[in-house]
Amino acid sequence: MSPSAADRLSRLIRDIPDFPQPGVVFKDITPLLASPGGFAEAVNGMVEISPDDIDVVVGMEARGFIFGAPVALALGAGFVPVRKPGKLPGDTLAQSYDLEYGAETLTIHADAIADGARVLVVDDVLATGGTVGATAGLLKQLGAELVAVTVLMELTFLSGRDYLTAQGIDTVNALL
Ligand code: PRP
Repeated sequence: MSPSAADRLSRLIRDIPDFPQPGVVFKDITPLLASPGGFAEAVNGMVEISPDDIDVVVGMEARGFIFGAPVALALGAGFVPVRKPGKLPGDTLAQSYDLEYGAETLTIHADAIADGARVLVVDDVLATGGTVGATAGLLKQLGAELVAVTVLMELTFLSGRDYLTAQGIDTVNALL
């Protein structure tokens, strides 16, 4: 993606100070989603930086669904949702991870992905890496191969990439 295109997309993501709690600057992607050209450019850019020999795209609730589904369609892959607890109707596997205060759990259907399938994980933002790390844990439980992670935006000051590298996840593609 050209620097001017990246700049155009970045200007469609607005900072909301002190949301959802004081001291946090929230990255609000809703202006980008509401822009027909911006949304398409973001999805196309994410597809371009992703490997194309993928069986399944995994997206995490909720904003990972928005980007994961169109990226899956463009790659000719299936889409599998990772959800917060209590949402998936079938047998599930669960993976917990620590937040700054407390913990969070993510779930996936136990039969969602065939053994050995090649998986791309897609989300909107990589911050601490906790969400992607827990998703990688779910994929490991399933015996799936995590080929790469693609995100719209990486918040480098939160060092999520280092956190994931320490877990053996080396291929992290960030559009912005
Ligand atoms: C946000 C975002 C990523 C995650 C990134 O999701 O959409 O999934 O946080 O943060 P991390 O790298 O520190 O884990 P959130 O948990 O706010 O859920 P939402 O998409 O339902 O708003």
